[in-house]
Amino acid sequence: MTGKNTKEEAMAEFLMHPSKYPTHERMMPDLGITEKEAKALVAFLKHMSSYGYKWVPMKLLKNG
Ligand code: HEM
Repeated sequence: MTGKNTKEEAMAEFLMHPSKYPTHERMMPDLGITEKEAKALVAFLKHMSSYGYKWVPMKLLKNG
């Protein structure tokens, strides 16, 4: 849909221009995210998802 070749590029594109991809009933606001920030966010999201969704908050709480 974004015309990007990889999932990572597509996510970064969405984060930079959410209003161009109104795929949900409610839209994500345009946060003025730069390309560098979008790439960093995608890397962060990938990193977090590699731990598994449920486990992450507990782990963070214990270490905090
Ligand atoms: C590619 C991953 C993402 C997708 C597909 C996505 C999608 C969406 C959608 C559909 C909404 C509207 C939800 C609603 O109001 O019902 C939303 C809201 C929002 N998103 Fe995202 N989002 C993503 C990642 C992010 C990231 C990484 C951030 C932070 C940097 C973010 C910040 C926000 C904010 C601030 C709102 C508004 C919440 C509110 O109105 O209370 N999103 N997003």
